Amino acid sequence: MEIVKTKVAIIGSGPAGLLLGQLLYKAGIDHVIIEQRSAEYVASRIRAGILEQVSVDLLEQAGVDQNLKANGLPHSGIEILTNGKKQRVDLSLLTKGKQVTVYGQTEVTKDLIQAREHAELISFYEAEQVQVDDFYSKPKVTFHYQGKDYQIECDFIAGCDGYHGVCRASVPEDKIKTFEKVYPFGWLGVLADVPPVADELIYVQSERGFALCSMRSETRSRYYLQVPLTDHVEDWSDERFWEELKRRLDPESREKLVTGGSIEKSIAPLRSFVTEPMRFGQLFLAGDAAHIVPPTGAKGLNLAASDIAYLSSALIEYYLDGSEQGINEYSEKCLQRVWKAERFSWWMTHLLHRFETESEFDHKIKQAELSYILSSHAGQTTLAENYVGLPY
Ligand code: APR
Ligand code: PHB
Repeated sequence: MEIVKTKVAIIGSGPAGLLLGQLLYKAGIDHVIIEQRSAEYVASRIRAGILEQVSVDLLEQAGVDQNLKANGLPHSGIEILTNGKKQRVDLSLLTKGKQVTVYGQTEVTKDLIQAREHAELISFYEAEQVQVDDFYSKPKVTFHYQGKDYQIECDFIAGCDGYHGVCRASVPEDKIKTFEKVYPFGWLGVLADVPPVADELIYVQSERGFALCSMRSETRSRYYLQVPLTDHVEDWSDERFWEELKRRLDPESREKLVTGGSIEKSIAPLRSFVTEPMRFGQLFLAGDAAHIVPPTGAKGLNLAASDIAYLSSALIEYYLDGSEQGINEYSEKCLQRVWKAERFSWWMTHLLHRFETESEFDHKIKQAELSYILSSHAGQTTLAENYVGLPY
């Protein structure tokens, strides 16, 4: 058995784990990352693409914002298409100059992996049988790696291992409470090297279901269609996808849409999920390991970033100032922001998607709510201030 001693063991090399590792490295705090997949696999995952300003600032603090500054697309507004008409929501005007940046999570992950490799930090990729133990006393992480058994002895474990990870699953049932809502549809996503249909994102509420027109650059687009959970990606040829998207768009966008071969196509389920608390002795959950949001509000990556902002400053405060205040307040602080983002993501999903089971009355009420939001300064402001990201 190889014994490795460190201060913080980070489980998971997604955006949460990598960002925490980078911030601890910048503060000179010893840590390792243990990841079950290969670095290539992690860097290849296609995920969402909207960064709140606070997330951009955190990536800058981590020293990994070079590509983001060069290739990120600042957006000051979004379009909402309903009843065949597009209306722009001027995010910056409504939030005193705030904006979001379009930059793929794939690129964020690649930038963080590249920075980690450049700093020659310790990462165990393709680790097997990862287990976390004794996190209420002297935390240990055991795993099998390149033919050897390893044991990490550490002060803290950061559970950044996503929704299906081992960390949350290792918490005794009587110490944890979870909250969940599963939506009765999925998002069929297509990535294609075609120019975006518009300069800004278009969120579509149509009788045929939700659609989203997004992008990764001026030459690469990302589109989504709400589809039934019974659909399989094999049911959707590129041609069928483009035809259905056109049916959900307004005439101008339909005319402008450039179609092409998909370079990635997948169906993702939608769920809202929250774990309480987010700290268990010396184990801290962060990112998807602790919570999931439907992608409608573009909050998944941004919530992972805010968790890591709180956790990294708490650990830095502990090691550099000897204070336990940050780690004691971690869970409460995170959950305050998590639940507000859960509410906004649920609200956008509820408002813009077609629910087969909703009554005609409920549907009319939703139409009236969206009409009010879009015609009211107060209504647009509430949408805008949640979309650009609430303050930490
Ligand atoms: N041992 C080690 N690593 C694990 C284990 C395990 N038992 N289980 C999962 N992992 C790894 C996964 O392979 C993955 O690389 O943990 C990582 C978790 O990364 P993400 O799922 O990307 O979660 P997170 O870093 O919190 O980022 C959240 O990713 O899924 C999107 O929409 C989500 O944008 C949000 C962001
Ligand atoms: C994306 O570009 O993948 C994206 C953008 C906005 C969302 C969800 C996904 O709300």
